[in-house]
Amino acid sequence: MSHRILMVCLGNICRSPIAEGVMKYRAEEAGLDIFVDSAGTSGWHEGELPDRRSIEIMRAFDLDITDQRSRPVRQSDFEDFDLILAMDRSNYDNLIDMAATTDQKDKVKMILAYSNSGLPANVPDPYYGGDDGFRNVYLMIDEAIVAIVNDLSTN
Ligand code: 4NP
Repeated sequence: MSHRILMVCLGNICRSPIAEGVMKYRAEEAGLDIFVDSAGTSGWHEGELPDRRSIEIMRAFDLDITDQRSRPVRQSDFEDFDLILAMDRSNYDNLIDMAATTDQKDKVKMILAYSNSGLPANVPDPYYGGDDGFRNVYLMIDEAIVAIVNDLSTN
């Protein structure tokens, strides 16, 4: 079975590009056919590369995300994807507001709901912080994605 997953944050330059890159890598590693994309609830950075600090933390793990460009979430995403993963509660609320039907709303989940704690915590916005924030974001996202890929592999 193939899957289509959309990663969503506010700007689509810091967190969701990391989530897109990690999901592509973990899916390939697991031999799963998953189409992955990312988008922002805002269009503030449309057309831009990921933040330099996101590119750097991914490069530290041997992953290249410089093919990515920021784009806003669009209405068709709610039909084109079967799982839409929000990085934080504010992204989640905005996505739920945008979704037109109950089926579409059901596709929206908090990414960290898949982590060990099971608590739907936020991936903190690292934009105004230091480089450390990006490493934490990477580690939180990777933990959740390993769990998601594991779920998809066994179900
Ligand atoms: P992201 O981070 O949502 O993880 O891409 C942000 C990027 C830009 C802004 C806020 C958060 N901004 O205010 O421009």
